[in-house]
Amino acid sequence: MEKEGIKDLSNADFKILMHQAVDMIIDLYDNIHTKNVFQSKKRDEVYNLFKGSLPEKSTAIKSLLETIEEDVIPNTALHFSPHFYAWVTSNATQASILGDMLASALNVNATTWLNAPASSELEQRVIRWIIEFIDFDSSSDGILLSGGSLSNFTGIRVAINQKCPYNYLHSGFDRLRPIRIYTSEQSHFCIDRAVASLGIGTENLVKVKVGVDYKMNLDDLVNKIEKDISSGFIPIAVIANAGTVNSGAIDPIKDLSVICKKYNLWLHVDAAYGGFAASVTELRNREFKGLELADSLTIDLHKWLFVPFECGALLVKSHGHLKDTFSLIPAYQKFQLDENKVDFSEYSMQQSRNFKALKVWMNFKAYGSEKLKQSISHSIELMNYLGGLIRSSEDFELMAPVSLSVICFRYVPPKKLLDTNSLNSLNQDIINDSERDGRVFIRETTLNGNIIIRACCTNFRREKENIKYLIEVLRELGIRNAHKYCR
Ligand SMILES: Cc1ncc(COP(=O)(O)O)c(C=O)c1O
Repeated sequence: MEKEGIKDLSNADFKILMHQAVDMIIDLYDNIHTKNVFQSKKRDEVYNLFKGSLPEKSTAIKSLLETIEEDVIPNTALHFSPHFYAWVTSNATQASILGDMLASALNVNATTWLNAPASSELEQRVIRWIIEFIDFDSSSDGILLSGGSLSNFTGIRVAINQKCPYNYLHSGFDRLRPIRIYTSEQSHFCIDRAVASLGIGTENLVKVKVGVDYKMNLDDLVNKIEKDISSGFIPIAVIANAGTVNSGAIDPIKDLSVICKKYNLWLHVDAAYGGFAASVTELRNREFKGLELADSLTIDLHKWLFVPFECGALLVKSHGHLKDTFSLIPAYQKFQLDENKVDFSEYSMQQSRNFKALKVWMNFKAYGSEKLKQSISHSIELMNYLGGLIRSSEDFELMAPVSLSVICFRYVPPKKLLDTNSLNSLNQDIINDSERDGRVFIRETTLNGNIIIRACCTNFRREKENIKYLIEVLRELGIRNAHKYCR
């Protein structure tokens, strides 16, 4: 009797399907500069495309690929498009896409050295390269994770392990002696989520004021630490930003490290967005001064190192920190005979893990650190160019200092005096209209209570013409909406 269940196609037929998928990928990248970045649809329209009960019978893979082409691709915002300005996002290189595809076909479980020797060695190698690329402390170690949120979570978990003075592992946190963590008002919300998930209590995440440059105010930090100590709290860590999500502000890391030393606090730096800009020497020496003094650091490769989602990294100062925090070895995994063989399953919460290192390795090797740095600098230059256009225009104004590659600005109708509420509503209208329009994909944020337009650039495919086009489109949408507010 012939066996039931899944049967492989012949390799020849599989290859035909592979080619069909490859053609789809090529189409996707074809004319990327001229096609719309987004197609606005009502939720029902997209819902209806995919509704249906659990399929009992099989469907030809060829026709599924056609469905992806017709229904999935058009309903996805193209993050790699030069017209995608919303959020700091992944804009994957060709080399890293190939690495990702092959990692999926290889189906490596990057958990123990034994079943994935190449993956384990490549992951250690790319971690070393990241450390060297941004000039972090050379004695550091690290791991690839899904992204900044998990990396910050993991960094905080290591910080607790190193700095909590009582044994919280069995009984949980002592309610009479709560630990405290300090971060700026501008930090990413994933810090709040990590603190909540770790059971620390969000009231023990102390938000420190920022200055007009959106950098952490050191006096406010010290006051808050001292007040907490005298009230019986146990300060354990400061989480600094090296590139805030809202405006790209970089906290004074060197000064923060002095404060952390004085109060025996762990210094974690959230450089999820900005970290790779530290590869640019002038920035490393100026804005990122003292980066190497951090005890741990989050950095996202799916942002400014141009690899596909998901890929972030956590770097820690000492080789032992990750293992000390996470190592638990079950009976069926006790085969580590050689201390030098790294089992990444001992380094984080994750047991089964995909082979992220391959796409990262492809990127470093295919382009080399020089080209990667040039593309990072290019993003910064383009956003400075946008800043210049805004400064010299009559109808846009900058709303935060230009830092790294995030620009915060708003449309202000020329020669009209609008109050704050009207300006907020007008700029929100522009964003909503841009979503329906689909030529550029850009979103808003809030700074000092104002709704502002935020353009982000971690995209090596973007050029000056695209920036001019962005301004043209936004101006058109601004004029179209302004009449509601200008009487
Ligand atoms: C500063 C900062 N931290 C953390 C994150 C979260 O990273 P992820 O989306 O990779 O989880 C982001 C995302 O934009 C970020 O900009």
